Amino acid sequence: MKILIAFSSKTGNTQKVAEAIQNALPGSELYHVETAPNPDKFDLIFMGFWVDKGTADEKAQEYIQKIKHKSVALFGTLGAYPDSQHAHDSLKKVAELLPDSQVIDRYLCQGAIDPKLIDWMSGLPAEHPHAPDEERRKRWNDAANHPDETDCQKAKDWANSVVKKWQDLKDLGHKSILLTSLI
Ligand SMILES: Cc1cc2nc3c(=O)[nH]c(=O)nc-3n(C[C@H](O)[C@H](O)[C@H](O)COP(=O)(O)O)c2cc1C
Repeated sequence: MKILIAFSSKTGNTQKVAEAIQNALPGSELYHVETAPNPDKFDLIFMGFWVDKGTADEKAQEYIQKIKHKSVALFGTLGAYPDSQHAHDSLKKVAELLPDSQVIDRYLCQGAIDPKLIDWMSGLPAEHPHAPDEERRKRWNDAANHPDETDCQKAKDWANSVVKKWQDLKDLGHKSILLTSLI
């Protein structure tokens, strides 16, 4: 079984999670999307992105377009909380970029927001939709400590569960082919 971990990362958060996943999966191949090989020759693809404007960042999207008819596990980092509606909607949008592949699971965690972006948002007028309020500042401060050790450990456990799920799905596929050929 050949496993590819392809990721995009601007400030290092998603790369950290990608590296944790590789640690959990000896023999897997890890690449930034800019140098990643053709996904066709892999059996299972872990596709990593950072959330930009509520979907995968542009470089990740470019690579995602090359993934056809594959088993894919999506992972990413974002400024919002991973259990928020925004995180849920963002994941849904990314999964929709893979209409002919099977998205077998997903993992998100928070990632520190680029200080340059925080500076810019801090200067926005109060009526601007991204102007900081107390809740938003708390979220930025919380994000600043991620991904942490716990996020990386969760990513490792998740990666192992994905491989198991993928193997179970494959076994199920073989069994149903066998059953159909018997009846
Ligand atoms: C230009 C820009 C746009 C972003 N857009 C979003 C967004 O729509 N939603 C969100 O939750 N976080 C957003 N973020 C936060 C990043 O997704 C987050 O900091 C991520 O961990 C960065 O990952 P990286 O270090 O791998 O580049 C944005 C950050 C930047 C710099």
